[in-house]
Amino acid sequence: MDKADYKDFATKAVHSGQHFDESTGAHIAPMHLTSTYIFTPEKMDRWLNNDREGIYFYTRMGNPTQTSFEEKLAALECMEAGLVTASGMSAIAMALMAATGAGDHIISTKPVYGGTYNLFTRTLPRFGLEVSFVEDFTPAGLEKMVKKNTKVVFFETMHNPCLDVIDMDEVVDWAKGHELMTMVDNTFTTPYLFLPFEHGIDVSLHSTTKYINGHGDHLGGAMTGTKAFIQDVKGSVYQDIGPCPSPLQCWLGLRGVRTLHLRMEAHCRNAMELAKWLEGNKHVAKVIYPGLPSHKDHALAKKYFTKGYGGMLAFEVRGGYKEARVFLDNVRLAEYGVSLGNLDTLVQHPATMTHAKVPLEERMRTGVTDSLIRVSVGVEGIGDIIEDFDRALSLLP
Ligand SMILES: Cc1ncc(COP(=O)(O)O)c(C=O)c1O
Repeated sequence: MDKADYKDFATKAVHSGQHFDESTGAHIAPMHLTSTYIFTPEKMDRWLNNDREGIYFYTRMGNPTQTSFEEKLAALECMEAGLVTASGMSAIAMALMAATGAGDHIISTKPVYGGTYNLFTRTLPRFGLEVSFVEDFTPAGLEKMVKKNTKVVFFETMHNPCLDVIDMDEVVDWAKGHELMTMVDNTFTTPYLFLPFEHGIDVSLHSTTKYINGHGDHLGGAMTGTKAFIQDVKGSVYQDIGPCPSPLQCWLGLRGVRTLHLRMEAHCRNAMELAKWLEGNKHVAKVIYPGLPSHKDHALAKKYFTKGYGGMLAFEVRGGYKEARVFLDNVRLAEYGVSLGNLDTLVQHPATMTHAKVPLEERMRTGVTDSLIRVSVGVEGIGDIIEDFDRALSLLP
């Protein structure tokens, strides 16, 4: 059976893109810490004949571990090809820069991840790109914003930190009707919970720093899409700007993603149990988890994320900033820091950390109150996580 033919997600996660090292027989191929690759006369002849498959040239253009990582991600996303980058932000920037040019217009959801918001409002406009944010991300809302020069419709599978979900099929149908390219940031859900390809989305984007790697020891990004699009990105902005990941980062990403299916199952299970437990705690005013019927977008989450609702949740403590700090300062198993998708449970305070730069009025309108705590639920034993939360919450007045 060819590795390309594997059907099951778990088999692809373990085997796709894995090639043992033919020179030594090493089961797990080593990474190649080299900047350049030597040309033999035979290799040069192949190169000149445009027979370049498997030929490495210079690490900015790729390395063998990178190829494996890209093959595996493309297989998991059921897309034709993949490309990895040094960070999630560079993946988003590269995909958009390849798909657009000065004078073009992009439509994006609001809210959007803070780094993406900065890219859209601070950097892309300097190069002649205009980005419009649309709160009513429905065909009717989008119709009001589309322009003659619109090229791309950008959205996220779940919005941070209140985990809103949009009706992606409606958006894709509308975009196709206007011949616009669609790009989704699939970081929170990963291909295990959501396959953009199955919904006709053109490009899937990731911060591989999060669930894809899952161990908190890697920084990277990825995009998957058609072979033509990926080749276009690689042959243009990617080569010219150089956002390539190091071989070590590719190795860590590739090693981590092999267990994605196992970890996502555990994240989803723990997050659901913790969300339900928090709902019954007297110090908690509100729990935000798309898997709970109380979530405003539960019906959409149920429609799109059939295997589970992910590992992210948020909750409001009774009180304000002071009470939130009591909880945050007193957790012991959970750690107080940004980022998400690691094996370990992480808690953070969006109002003073990830969303500190968002104006107060906007923060309040989007639910980022002073008492809101975001949790990236890890894969530890759920009993220990609950015990930790229970003890820290019991210290609240
Ligand atoms: C949804 C989302 N997209 C993109 C990024 C950016 O990824 P990176 O930090 O790897 O550049 C993040 C980072 O937190 C994120 O949460």
